[in-house]
Amino acid sequence: MSKVLAIANQKGGVAKTTTAISMGAGLVERGFRVLLMDVDDSGNPSLSKGLGIPEPQRSLTDLMLFRILKRDITGELQDTIVRHAEGMDVLPADHTLPGITDALNGVQDEGRKRSILREITDTVKGNYDYVLLDAAPALNLMSINVLTAADEVIITTQPQGASEAGILELIQAAMQVRANMNPDLIVRGLLITMLDARTNYNKDKAVKLTDGYTEMGMKVFATRIPRAVSAEECVEERISILKYDPKGKVATAYRQFVEEYLHQS
Ligand SMILES: Nc1ncnc2c1ncn2[C@@H]1O[C@H](COP(=O)(O)OP(=O)(O)OP(=O)(O)O)[C@@H](O)[C@H]1O
Ligand SMILES: [Mg+2]
Repeated sequence: MSKVLAIANQKGGVAKTTTAISMGAGLVERGFRVLLMDVDDSGNPSLSKGLGIPEPQRSLTDLMLFRILKRDITGELQDTIVRHAEGMDVLPADHTLPGITDALNGVQDEGRKRSILREITDTVKGNYDYVLLDAAPALNLMSINVLTAADEVIITTQPQGASEAGILELIQAAMQVRANMNPDLIVRGLLITMLDARTNYNKDKAVKLTDGYTEMGMKVFATRIPRAVSAEECVEERISILKYDPKGKVATAYRQFVEEYLHQS
C-alpha cells in the first residue's frame, strides 16, 4: 500500500528538504519505490535544485494547472517525472510554482481548492510505495493542499528556540485539515535535526523538546540527526548525503531514522 508523507514546518531552514531527500534515498536503499515531490512554492525549489533538476521543462505547476482545468494528467506524467541516478523518481518544481496560489484561489469549489494536489498524488501514488512531499516554509493555501494530500506528516525541527515556534500552529492546521478534508491524516512525529551534540544548549533543547512533546502525546523520534558540514556539501554534488558520505554520521542517522520509521508503520 502506498503512503503519501509530508515533511513540513513553516519555519525555514530546519532540514525539511534534506530530510525528504535523505529519507527518500534511505527508502530506496531498503528496496522501496519512492517519488519525491517538490511542493515548495516559496520560489526556491531546493529539492529539485539539490537533485540536479534546476529548471525542468515540465513541473508541478503544469500538473496543477491541468487539474485546475479538470484535464487528465495521466499522459503528462512521463514528461514531468524525472528518474534520479540514486533510484528515486522526482516530480520537480520551478520558480513558477508561487503563482499557483492565484490559480487555486480562482477555483470556486472550496473543497477542490484545497485538494488539487491530492488529485495529483492520487494519480501517481499507485506507482510507488512512498511519495514524499517537501513542503515550503509557509502555512498557506499550498500547505493546506499538502496536508490534504498527505497520509502522514513528519515535522522537522532544530533544537533551538526559534525553530520551535510554529510547531503547535502546524499541528493545529493538520488537525483542522483532518476534521474538514482528510480524516485519515496522522501527525507521525517530530524529527530533531541539525543537532550539535557539542553544545549543552543544543543538547538541553533536544531533551526539552522530546519531553515536552512526548508529554503532549506526540511522537518524537528517538533518532536525532546530527549537524555536519558534509550535509551542506552534498547539495553541490546534487546527490543525497547517503551517497555523498555513506558512512558519515548524518547518513548513518538518516538510515537509522528510516528504520525507526518503518518499524512503527
Ligand atoms: N544535518 C545537517 N548538518 C548540517 N547542515 C545541514 C544539515 N541538514 C541540513 N543542513 C543544511 O541546512 C540548510 C537548510 O537545510 P534544508 O534546505 O534541508 O532546510 P529546509 O527546512 O528545507 O529549508 P527551507 O525552509 O528554506 O525549505 C541547507 O544548507 C542544508 O544543507
Ligand atoms: Mg526546503
